[in-house]
Amino acid sequence: AEKAAPGIFEVLKAAFDFYRAALKKSPEAIAYFRKRGVEGKTAARFGLGYAPGGDDWQALKVIYPDYDWNKLLTEAGLVIEKEDTKRRYDRFRDRVMFPIFNQRGAVIGFGGRVLGQGEPKYLNSPETPVFEKGRELYGLTQARAVIRERNRVLVTEGYMDVVMLHQHGVEYAVASLGTACTPEHVKKLLKLADEVVFGFDGDKAGRRAAWRALENAMPLVRDGKEVRFLFLPPEHDPDSYVQEFGREAFERLIDEEALPLSQYLLRELSLQVDLTAEEGRAKLWHIAHPYLDQLQEAPVLRLLVQKRLGELCQLSQADMSQLQAPR
Ligand code: CTP
Ligand code: MN
Ligand code: MN
Ligand code: MN
Ligand code: MN
Repeated sequence: AEKAAPGIFEVLKAAFDFYRAALKKSPEAIAYFRKRGVEGKTAARFGLGYAPGGDDWQALKVIYPDYDWNKLLTEAGLVIEKEDTKRRYDRFRDRVMFPIFNQRGAVIGFGGRVLGQGEPKYLNSPETPVFEKGRELYGLTQARAVIRERNRVLVTEGYMDVVMLHQHGVEYAVASLGTACTPEHVKKLLKLADEVVFGFDGDKAGRRAAWRALENAMPLVRDGKEVRFLFLPPEHDPDSYVQEFGREAFERLIDEEALPLSQYLLRELSLQVDLTAEEGRAKLWHIAHPYLDQLQEAPVLRLLVQKRLGELCQLSQADMSQLQAPR
């Protein structure tokens, strides 16, 4: 029988092996991970690697001598071809590498970080036939068993958040790969566990991402599920927090301070109005209503949030049923 042509998965796996081997040979990359607190065991568990820099811009030639015409390398997102000159070169150069796996444990893409300063800080694989960014959760392969056991999943923003949380024993952490948490992500997360905790960075971008996650979660959440939001101090992300304060402090924060979706929603909306004025309370009712309507799949939660909203607006049950009576 004819030997099957190497597929995109094989190319990605070969690059994965190459980057891991290159890490062992790069004192700079090893020093970088060490400086960030990553232990050898953790690096092995996450398959961390290094994409060499160098002058030839074609380090992957070592494993693919047919580099200059091998279209699979481009298709896999590993090699870029310049439109005008047709010159080909490695996408990832002089970066520490975070492989991304699919459900079956096959490598489907990479994130690469510069060792020091530099732009972009992270470079990710492009969308390819096997890598759809809006669907994948970084770290899910490593986290899956503990997510099931704890019936809890923690969603963070970044590669290092996942890696360091796992190293500290918070092994139900995954990341939405920097991009916003999409409805696809939320669907997947709600299937994985009954408790979904969003733990984004404490900075402005993280807070914006949390609100977007709330908007995406509302139409999908069902009674029986618990979606919560963890807000870290502005200067922290989960990586820095767990390294500074440890696992117990981090998990205490989840247990004691993460806001249920319902409370996060009402808190944010209340901040937009003056609750001491009738107009402010009427406005709160007005702006909150479309959000309540989003809770189609969670009728009990919806009713309870509405009750709480009524209290905030100082509307009685009778007032509210009058508001809702058909005209
Ligand atoms: N990200 C990205 N491209 C960038 C910046 C960020 O894809 N240019 C994604 C990465 O997945 C990154 C996540 O967004 O992990 C969160 O960004 P940020 O908080 O800036 O990075 P950290 O993960 O905290 O990075 P580090 O701790 O390594 O500085
Ligand atoms: Mn950030
Ligand atoms: Mn960080
Ligand atoms: Mn961060
Ligand atoms: Mn309505």
